[in-house]
Amino acid sequence: MNSDDSTFETYFANPPADIDMEAFDRSRVPRHISCIMDGNGRWATSRGLSRGEGHKAGIVSLREIITACVRLDVEVLSAYAFSTENWSRPQQEVNLLMHLFAKTFIEELPLLHRENVKVVFLGDISALPEQTREVFEYGLKQTEDHTGMTLALAVNYGARAELARAARLIAEDVRAGTLDPEQIDEDTVAAHLYTAGLPDPELVVRTSGELRLSNYLLWQVAYAEFYITDTYWPDFDRWGLIRAILAFQGRDRRFGGLTQSKES
Ligand code: IPE
Ligand code: IPE
Ligand code: MG
Repeated sequence: MNSDDSTFETYFANPPADIDMEAFDRSRVPRHISCIMDGNGRWATSRGLSRGEGHKAGIVSLREIITACVRLDVEVLSAYAFSTENWSRPQQEVNLLMHLFAKTFIEELPLLHRENVKVVFLGDISALPEQTREVFEYGLKQTEDHTGMTLALAVNYGARAELARAARLIAEDVRAGTLDPEQIDEDTVAAHLYTAGLPDPELVVRTSGELRLSNYLLWQVAYAEFYITDTYWPDFDRWGLIRAILAFQGRDRRFGGLTQSKES
């Protein structure tokens, strides 16, 4: 990993022809951007490579998007790396992913230090293979005092499992006598999710063209804007992110109300 003293201006210099950076409003960048990093396998297969090579290439993309989000002053970047359903893949692919996660986290610690990025995990990391779990716990400690962007990595994450866990935790509070069932509201539920304390995603990007959530952040994306691109994750770069944010900036977010100009 090399040093990087880029700024917003230098990191986003020389955009491709379809992007007008003059139209980009830096004051309207989502606070929380979430990426469903999909298409590593197809990216690799289409090049005659193994799926593992696709996952390795996907890590290069994630690194670029982390730096891009820091330069854009994004508060939270979350990324779906491994779902509770991904255990059903061939053991060899699961092992490779777990190994890659650990290796990458160690390799990228200097980047996280340099960019002041704090890592949190969404999902049950206690159930991961020992080596991966230990590296994650070590990495968490290493970045816990960082005060810049939060990088929320969803590993062994499933939204239904998260909601069931929240129900369990809330029930335990009730049984312990510290919570009155009458007081349970939306904030109570949100406070018992893995994302407690983080703002909800405003923009969810899914690569590889799939039009589904695949059990991702069901509660938190209630009013998120979705951006789907056919680009496979390993081909997704800073300009893909800019296109997604430009699309976001063109959306009319009504939250069930009316557009400002239509209120009178
Ligand atoms: C996303 O890429 C990464 C993980 C789920 C770990 P995929 O591995 O799902 O790639 P495709 O969808 O098979 O192309
Ligand atoms: C979603 O991708 C999970 C991650 C990106 C980690 P999948 O490839 O697992 O989703 P499906 O199987 O196409 O729904
Ligand atoms: Mg996939």
